[in-house]
Amino acid sequence: MNPKVVAVVGATGLVGRKMIETLENRNFPVKAIKFLASERSRVRKLAYKGEEIPVEVLDENSFKGIEIALFSAGGSTSKKFAPIAAKDGCVVVDNSSAWRMDPEVPLVVPEVNAHEIKNHKGIIANPNCSTIQMVVALKPIHDFARIERIVVSTYQAVSGAGQNAVQELLNQMQAYVEGKPLEIKVFPHQILFNCIPQIPQKDAFEANGYTNEEMKMVNETKKIMGDPSIQVTATTVRVPVISSHSESVNIQTEKKVTVEKARELLANAPGVVLMDDPAKQVYPLATMAAGRWETFVGRIREDISHPRALDMWIVADNLLKGAAYNAVQIAEYL
Ligand SMILES: NC(=O)c1ccc[n+]([C@@H]2O[C@H](COP(=O)([O-])OP(=O)(O)OC[C@H]3O[C@@H](n4cnc5c(N)ncnc54)[C@H](OP(=O)(O)O)[C@@H]3O)[C@@H](O)[C@H]2O)c1
Repeated sequence: MNPKVVAVVGATGLVGRKMIETLENRNFPVKAIKFLASERSRVRKLAYKGEEIPVEVLDENSFKGIEIALFSAGGSTSKKFAPIAAKDGCVVVDNSSAWRMDPEVPLVVPEVNAHEIKNHKGIIANPNCSTIQMVVALKPIHDFARIERIVVSTYQAVSGAGQNAVQELLNQMQAYVEGKPLEIKVFPHQILFNCIPQIPQKDAFEANGYTNEEMKMVNETKKIMGDPSIQVTATTVRVPVISSHSESVNIQTEKKVTVEKARELLANAPGVVLMDDPAKQVYPLATMAAGRWETFVGRIREDISHPRALDMWIVADNLLKGAAYNAVQIAEYL
């Protein structure tokens, strides 16, 4: 591949910094790289392959000469600047939810629907983190037995809500140890020692009682799998874990899938690591998935309440497979 001129938008954020690290670790062919963020980061520098690069303030002229831009600076920034970048001839891989359900924009998880990348018109959307890891694990089973219905409950890390959210959990831990009152700013309730069934933190609930995050899992799964007939219901929960989302997933299939067959399919699936030896207490954990690119699956069992259903436990690093690594994979296809 010819080296590319790359921009990272939101370079100072949790996902942006993971994007930079992933470009470095995968030896992405970079001709030149530009880091963009808000006015707040004007004086900052970030390292790329040992070189200190100043962070520039994002504006309408930022994309002249850029070939690929990885965006992770929130929905409103993407809504405004992704079309400007595309107009300047740059291909945008966008991490926000701004473009995901636009019928003109491919929504891509390379292990599932890499063929959609070539249909882009300047913007490609990276799906929601919880959806990405679920579809990586479910695609091989869907191809074999057609999934009719998915029931998922998530256990999502605080890093999914950005760096202020990670800091809030750490601050609450410290305050608790020191016997001081816990400060609550980012999350709607104390996150330390708690599970909060509301994602995102603000304006979460839709008229049907589901949260935005839950409806993203419903709608994005159908679009990525290319099958609007798959029925999905989700409950998304924030837990006091720093990195990696875990998911309890129940699937009902048209054709029966045994545990052995599911293990065989997943053992051979791209991007999946099967970790399923419960007798030896081997199953995926958030702590071991953190820092890894793959999606981990275990606790596979036949659902005793239904003749054609399976339960499983799916874990992946939300900042890597759920965001930065998936975006860099798309850039590699480009
Ligand atoms: N965290 C995850 O697991 C995850 C997963 C998938 C997708 N995402 C999405 O990725 C995006 C970033 O998430 P994050 O967790 O990295 O958040 P974060 O840690 O809070 O970082 C936000 C980044 O956006 C930049 N930014 C904010 N407003 C801006 C503006 N008006 N102009 C230019 N830059 C601006 C910030 O720059 P300053 O430092 O200058 O403020 C910072 O670099 C969000 O859209 C999020 O939904 C996150």
